[in-house]
Amino acid sequence: MHEAAAQPLVSRRAAGPLRATIQVPGDKSISHRSLMFGALAVGETRISGLLTGEDVLRTAGAMRALGAEVTHNPDGTWRVAGRGIGGLVEPADVLDMGNSGTAARLLCGILASHPLFAVMTGDASLRGRPMRRVTDPLSACGARFASREGGRLPLAIEGARDALPLEYRVPVPSAQVKSAVLLAGLNAPGITRVEEPEATRDHSENMLRHFGATVHVEVAGAGRIITLQGQPELRAANVVVPGDPSSAAFPLVAALIVPGSRVVLPAVGLNPLRTGLFATLLEMGADIMVENRRTEGGEPVGDLVVSHGELRAVDVPWQRAPSMIDEYPILAVAAACAAGTTRMRGLKELRVKESDRLAATAALLAGNGVRVEIEGDDLIVHGSGGPPAGGGMVVTHMDHRIAMPALVMGMASGQPVTVDDGAFIATSFPGFTALMNGAGAAIGAA
Ligand code: S3P
Repeated sequence: MHEAAAQPLVSRRAAGPLRATIQVPGDKSISHRSLMFGALAVGETRISGLLTGEDVLRTAGAMRALGAEVTHNPDGTWRVAGRGIGGLVEPADVLDMGNSGTAARLLCGILASHPLFAVMTGDASLRGRPMRRVTDPLSACGARFASREGGRLPLAIEGARDALPLEYRVPVPSAQVKSAVLLAGLNAPGITRVEEPEATRDHSENMLRHFGATVHVEVAGAGRIITLQGQPELRAANVVVPGDPSSAAFPLVAALIVPGSRVVLPAVGLNPLRTGLFATLLEMGADIMVENRRTEGGEPVGDLVVSHGELRAVDVPWQRAPSMIDEYPILAVAAACAAGTTRMRGLKELRVKESDRLAATAALLAGNGVRVEIEGDDLIVHGSGGPPAGGGMVVTHMDHRIAMPALVMGMASGQPVTVDDGAFIATSFPGFTALMNGAGAAIGAA
């Protein structure tokens, strides 16, 4: 498969404070789901604020290959003419999900209960990621999967003709696994029931309701039990995608660590199952204000106003991991600049992201003069209470969420920070470099 050429980037210390209003791109999780639910609904769904990152464009391509019409309107909105549940057509070619685990795993759920044959692949990062976490539970509905060793892509899928509803307790906190089971349940009769021992992002549940499905959520300790009434008639709906809190995290931490900065981030999603980073940074003494709290498209949003200030170390409990799972690398950068030793607990799931993000985060810090340890599944960062040394070359392992934190670190470091490849930033945050440079950063080709 063709892989694009690497794009090395270097980030030098910002010449002055960051001052800007930065509109971060649309939420990646909600963007994938809006295209998928739009394709499964009857009628025309209109989406505004869709993330046009490469991951989401892969989902758009897959939905087209399954027979939905997906078009980008001249006014920037997207239109999806859906096929209805059960109405998808067999894709004529391999579905290439690029770098996107969310696209691949959620699509497995949809395909499991449609009587179609499909083959799915992805880039070298995605082909290394575990898929059994979805194919094992989905097999119980009658679907058949054949994969490479260890359940890795490429994967051949024979969807069930008469799918059975699933009852599943998700063994690891994963919104992708939960969502895959719920999506399979859409084309099975009766009740699909998913139990999660720890609550994870609930965008699928919210959007299912928004499209007219009957979903019940019961709180059970720290977790939830979700039941879905199968074979609903999903009705096309309008979706407003909020700014991605996981993308907002990068300019936000940049503003916290570059002296004198003040940055405004309008319309950022504030779903409580996504805001663990903001809670943690507030505990560290960060100056973050939320203005204009409101609800848009069924999701809470607000404008964040972030100012530079001193940060202190914190102990991040493992229970918080699901609500900030993608934010640990950038939190580690903030922790490197904070006074004292920060411990982040329970990061096992970071090992199976776009890279082994636990090891990659530790290497990012260590290569730039920060003292760091991994103890079991915990990451321990010894902060200096000021700017890190920098000067390192960070290996990004095809992982956007290693590249961006490294570049943010460079904005405050003594010496420039280089990344071996910034190309994967486009999977989730197209325009990142230009936006940051517009705010006062100095990021360029290395
Ligand atoms: C996502 C769930 C999380 C997250 C990913 C997006 C989703 O993955 O890391 O970026 O949209 O459901 P897991 O389900 O593997 O925790």
